Amino acid sequence: MASSSPLLLLVLPLLLLMAARPSAGVDPIATDCSKNGTSAQTQASIDAVLASLVPRASAAYYATATAGKSPSTIYGLAQCRGDVPKQDCALCVAAAEQELASSCRGSADARVFYDYCLLRYSDANFLGLPDTGYTLILLNTQNATGVDLAAFDKAQTKLMSRVAAEAGEASRKGLATDTTKLGGGGGGAASKTTIYGLGWCTRDITAADCGLCVAQAVAEFPNYCRYRRGCRVIYSSCMARYETYPFFFPIDGGSQEAPDQDQVGHQDKIILNHP
Ligand SMILES: *[C@@H]1O[C@H](CO)[C@@H](O)[C@H](O)[C@H]1NC(C)=O
Ligand SMILES: *[C@@H]1O[C@H](CO)[C@@H](O)[C@H](O)[C@H]1NC(C)=O
Repeated sequence: MASSSPLLLLVLPLLLLMAARPSAGVDPIATDCSKNGTSAQTQASIDAVLASLVPRASAAYYATATAGKSPSTIYGLAQCRGDVPKQDCALCVAAAEQELASSCRGSADARVFYDYCLLRYSDANFLGLPDTGYTLILLNTQNATGVDLAAFDKAQTKLMSRVAAEAGEASRKGLATDTTKLGGGGGGAASKTTIYGLGWCTRDITAADCGLCVAQAVAEFPNYCRYRRGCRVIYSSCMARYETYPFFFPIDGGSQEAPDQDQVGHQDKIILNHP
């Protein structure tokens, strides 16, 4: 027993740290690699783009890079969600680089999506072009509870159309967050449900394109997410998400604790239109 206590002392703070920070920040939601079979020159361009993106995106939350001469040119983009603390941004971008360098080695087109960041490169110049091809849908397997489902759906729809409109405003710099409250069955403040909505875009597209992109993502919700406790539609240029727990910073009440796993629940993943 005595010999295990120093170990416990070490492990305990680590566990606390892990509990206090949503681990989702460093677990990829999805990785997609295509155009396998790159030349050595293209691989060198990929390596150069990744090496250039990581430090710059970690420092500034957004970076693009280009490397190599045609036909070995590679274009890249890395971005963190604007609300995320700086250290989480850096961890996320580093994890994204590792993920693409290992899982997508040999691919001339690769993208990886996390809660807190995304990283993408391609041999085609995608920069500035709104891309709603590749589509990743994550929906909570459970319906909302403690609310009238029709009222929940109406409130979610109204919230997310507001989020899409806000995402289109230049002053938002591609990130819109908003909330709405709806009364529960019993009435009173304690039974109110809050819906948290977020839309964000890669910064290479214009504010107007961002608004359209988020609106297109939101328009998928009725097809996949009606009544669901939470849902997100992720494109390569933007995403839209709502949950019934706080998931963006600053977390309500200043607490940065991870939501309880019961609320997070399980997600079904649907992928449409692979590149
Ligand atoms: C790319 O192709 C090579 C050779 O066919 C294969 O070994 C490798 O697993 C492929 N990589 C990916 C990411 O599909
Ligand atoms: C969600 O609620 C709808 C409407 O009551 C119902 O048809 C559907 O089966 C429910 N889905 C889940 C996953 O509980």
